[in-house]
Amino acid sequence: MPKFDVKKLRDDFPILSREIAGKRLAYLDNGATSQKPREVIDRLSRFYLEENANIHRGVHYLSREATDAYDGARESIKNALGVPSTHELVFVRGATEAFNLVAHGLADNLERGDEIILTIFEHHANIVPWQVIESEKGIKLHFIGMTEEGALDLEAWKAAFSERTRVAAFTHVSNVLGTVNPIAEMIRFAKEHEVITVVDGAQALPHGPVNLSEATPDFYAFSGHKVYAPDGIGVLIGERNRLDRFPPYQTGGDMIEQVKVEGSTYRETPARFEAGTPAIAEAIALGEAFRYMAEIDWEGARAHERSLADHLSGELANWKGTRIFGRTEDKTAIVSFYTDWAHPHDVGTLLDTEGVAIRVGHHCAQPLMDHLGVPATARASFAFYNDESDVEAFFRGMDKVRRFLA
Ligand code: ALA
Repeated sequence: MPKFDVKKLRDDFPILSREIAGKRLAYLDNGATSQKPREVIDRLSRFYLEENANIHRGVHYLSREATDAYDGARESIKNALGVPSTHELVFVRGATEAFNLVAHGLADNLERGDEIILTIFEHHANIVPWQVIESEKGIKLHFIGMTEEGALDLEAWKAAFSERTRVAAFTHVSNVLGTVNPIAEMIRFAKEHEVITVVDGAQALPHGPVNLSEATPDFYAFSGHKVYAPDGIGVLIGERNRLDRFPPYQTGGDMIEQVKVEGSTYRETPARFEAGTPAIAEAIALGEAFRYMAEIDWEGARAHERSLADHLSGELANWKGTRIFGRTEDKTAIVSFYTDWAHPHDVGTLLDTEGVAIRVGHHCAQPLMDHLGVPATARASFAFYNDESDVEAFFRGMDKVRRFLA
């Protein structure tokens, strides 16, 4: 495997050479979506230029070829994640669809008074589907808080387990703070209490491989667009026996065994949850993104991302009236901050004039904003292809914010 070389890797991402308002693009909004390497873009266009056909339906050459590529992508993603069988990997639109599917599937087995444990870090995608069944089924949700540094209050999380706890849903990595939850310990603890675990991996996989054979949750989900792949595709991993007992989430073509006038029977996982024509090219390109990621020296990449984020937050911490949220030791490269002299939206708008893209707002984590006592934050989120010039551009932009607004 080649040693980590940011200059060389940047060349793989055509968009990074773009200029925005005459300035070099400094893309620090990777938490929202990642940029795509040429290999992934080429794979997507090759499908449409040369291979386009529907899958699992045709006897003709193109259909067989497209089916092989789609099934092959599932196989290579399964291998990368250490999942035992392709029957445990469902292609979905993204993590959001995955959580809706799981909440819908589990709802039938929940009874009034049952409890679900969430954390204050959760993205709305891993909150709202549970709130829907909270009101439908009369169950109770518990949100667990965090320490000053931004680590999950693990003792409180464990203490929240009761005889009525059925599900623990938690993020692997916080999209606002970068906090990495100790998911192996959490999964072990939940299993001891026979509680189902639903893990949001959306912000973990962009920063390096995850091996689910080491700590296996009942469900793990992520979105393709955050792992250098196209939009509209994502993955839900779940144990086959459990998924086969879920009612189908959507019905239609390709997920049925038989349709009679009297009624229909359904196929097993994963087909059971992939009704209609799926995002074929996107799934194949997601497989390509996993091949691309497998060539990266992740130890070097993580150290590089962390040094950029540490540089940015270290310097920013000296700015008057500026709070940085999330200070855990092993956090991923995300820096969320709030200045009491400039609204985050103004910070984002002025940084944009320097070609710097960050996200501002509640980051789809309003309960966490309430917990932090701020309406919004500004967030710089890094990927392995960022470099020191991006951090310099960020501070050029921040100097402008200070000049205009402080
Ligand atoms: N979940 C994405 C973010 O954190 C959109 O920005």
